[in-house]
Amino acid sequence: MDLKQIIKANRSYRKFIHNEKIDEGIIMEWIDNARYVASSKNRQPVRFIIITESMEVQQICDHMQWARHLKNWQGPTKEQKPAALLVVCTDENINKNAQTDVGIITQTILLQAVNDGYGGCLLRSIDRKLIRNKFNLPENIAIDMVVALGKPDQSITLEEMDVNSDNTDYWEDENGVHHVPKRALVDFVLNKKFKG
Ligand SMILES: Cc1cc2nc3c(=O)[nH]c(=O)nc-3n(C[C@H](O)[C@H](O)[C@H](O)COP(=O)(O)O)c2cc1C
Repeated sequence: MDLKQIIKANRSYRKFIHNEKIDEGIIMEWIDNARYVASSKNRQPVRFIIITESMEVQQICDHMQWARHLKNWQGPTKEQKPAALLVVCTDENINKNAQTDVGIITQTILLQAVNDGYGGCLLRSIDRKLIRNKFNLPENIAIDMVVALGKPDQSITLEEMDVNSDNTDYWEDENGVHHVPKRALVDFVLNKKFKG
C-alpha cells in the first residue's frame, strides 16, 4: 500500500477476528519506530501499557464506550474483541499538557499497524479509575486514551460529504457496512473557502 492507501485504510475498527493474536514484539516495534516522532520541546512524555492477556483485554473493553452514534450496538462481543490494548499515558512530571504529543505518536502507531495488516480504534471514553487501579499507576502518570488493536473483521467505507454539509455522524447499513462521512477538501482550507 502507498501512503494514501494506508491513511484511507486506517479507519476506526471496532470488530476484530476472533482469536487472531498480536505478538507483543510487533507492538514493541511500532512503539520503537514511533518514539522518533515530534514532541513539544522534545520532552517525550508519552508512555504505554501493552495488554495482550485476553481476560484483561475483555475487562477493560467492557468498560469503554464504543461507537456512541450506533445506538443499537453495545460494543464488540467476546468473539469480536480486540487482540490487544495499548493504554496511552503521559508523565505529567515531564509535560502536563501533552495531548498533541499523544495524537502524533498514536497515529504513527496506527499507521504502522495498518501497514502490517492490523487495525485499531482510539478510545477516550474509558474507565481511567479501573485502569489506574489495575496497574497501580503513580499519580504523575495520566491516562489519556486506549488504542484497541487486532485483525479487523469489519467493512468500513468513506463517504464524501457535500460542501458545507455538517452531518458527520457515522452509520451502519443493513449489511453491517460501517459508513464514515468526511468533509469536503474545500471545507478544510479556509483561504479557499473564504476567498474574495
Ligand atoms: C481523540 C479521539 C477519541 C475517540 N474516542 C472514541 C471512543 O471513546 N469510542 C469510540 O468508539 N471511538 C472513539 N474514537 C473514534 C472516532 O469515533 C472515529 O475516529 C470517527 O468516528 C471517525 O472514524 P474514522 O476513525 O474511521 O475516520 C475516537 C477518536 C479520536 C480521534
